Amino acid sequence: MLAGSPAERVLDRTLRDHRHLSREQRQALKEAVYNVGLWRRRLGFLLGRDDATPPFLLYALLHGLAGVPAPEAAALAGLGEGGGPALNPAPAPTLALRASLPDWLADHFAREFGPEAEDFCAHLNVPGPITLRATPLRTTRDALAERLRSEGVQTRPGPWSPLALHVEGPRPNLYGLDSLREGLFEVQDEGSQLLGLVLDAQPGETVLDLCAGAGGKTLLLGAQMKDSGRLLAYDPDPERLDRLLQRSARAGLSRVQVLRTPPTPGLGADRVLVDAPCSELGSLRRGPDLRFRIEPDVLTHFPPLQADILQHAADLVRPGGRLVYATCTVNRAENQDLVTAFLAARPDFSPVRPGQGWLPEACVHEGFLLVAPHRHGTDAFFAAVMERSAG
Ligand SMILES: C[S@@+](CC[C@H](N)C(=O)[O-])C[C@H]1O[C@@H](n2cnc3c(N)ncnc32)[C@H](O)[C@@H]1O
Repeated sequence: MLAGSPAERVLDRTLRDHRHLSREQRQALKEAVYNVGLWRRRLGFLLGRDDATPPFLLYALLHGLAGVPAPEAAALAGLGEGGGPALNPAPAPTLALRASLPDWLADHFAREFGPEAEDFCAHLNVPGPITLRATPLRTTRDALAERLRSEGVQTRPGPWSPLALHVEGPRPNLYGLDSLREGLFEVQDEGSQLLGLVLDAQPGETVLDLCAGAGGKTLLLGAQMKDSGRLLAYDPDPERLDRLLQRSARAGLSRVQVLRTPPTPGLGADRVLVDAPCSELGSLRRGPDLRFRIEPDVLTHFPPLQADILQHAADLVRPGGRLVYATCTVNRAENQDLVTAFLAARPDFSPVRPGQGWLPEACVHEGFLLVAPHRHGTDAFFAAVMERSAG
């Protein structure tokens, strides 16, 4: 059922092929595909084999993990007269089996988190909240919450980002809301909001978003700058930059300038954000099968590229300016170690506390911004804030 293809695509195809299904049936199908995809390793352990077919996996999910009585689970899974097999009654002996992760990835998280690894991995199996970011150019967080309430969407403020609102209750159709069309908010994980906020972009400055992608952070920087000054966005992927331009026009930002070639040293930017390409292990809860589609070499693939990008970025910052290096991963080689090596090679840069004056201490670890699902309810993110000496 899920062999090699992303769960979302399998699901879309299946739903298209079964248009007669009721809303409840479609929802049940979605949950079955999502959970079989996510829990496949744990289900293999329960069944005592790694090559079980979808009906058996579904049976193991319903009976072994959801507690549905065996005959009912077998009937729901379409196993017919014979019923389902006996499931392994022993507790899963390893973190990888308990959390349904590949062995190498569970071992990696054990090294990264030590005694917290079990908690972290358990949180990778719970879908994240839907989080909105108020657009400061157009509204305040409180006014947005009020407006959403009038549109039937209940929210609560996020504890970390001053712009975050978490949606409460059933998933609303956000794309049908006038408040979205009016550009009052963007959908953005609370941790991701923090990465943009710690750059502390100010009106009138020259600010560079060096790995801008489709502009998730650029929009926030533009709003912080009150659509003044120069906001430059570079990414080697031209299609992402096209999307960035469309999004910034919709967000009412007139000062975004897209760079189609890499900026050259001597730019003298007041602030540079490096939202680096990375192994993306911090957002594994966003898809049930992401974890099974990556290979162990993802852990060593990025640091050389990240070090190059960071070096390049450093030469674009004016003396006295600010540089933020950020990732959405949990890997010291891409985060703490990379920044420590950079700081050793560049004595003209020194670390400063992220979010001085507003970011709670709970989000700061060893001087870096560090958030994770089990501690903060966000995806996992890392950021180092550095300043270049004035002289
Ligand atoms: C984590 S994503 C950025 C996401 C974006 N900042 C956002 O908030 O939506 C990393 C980006 O780095 C870009 N990238 C890859 N190599 C790069 C390079 N050498 N210099 C700058 N950006 C690069 C990728 O194309 C990708 O869009």
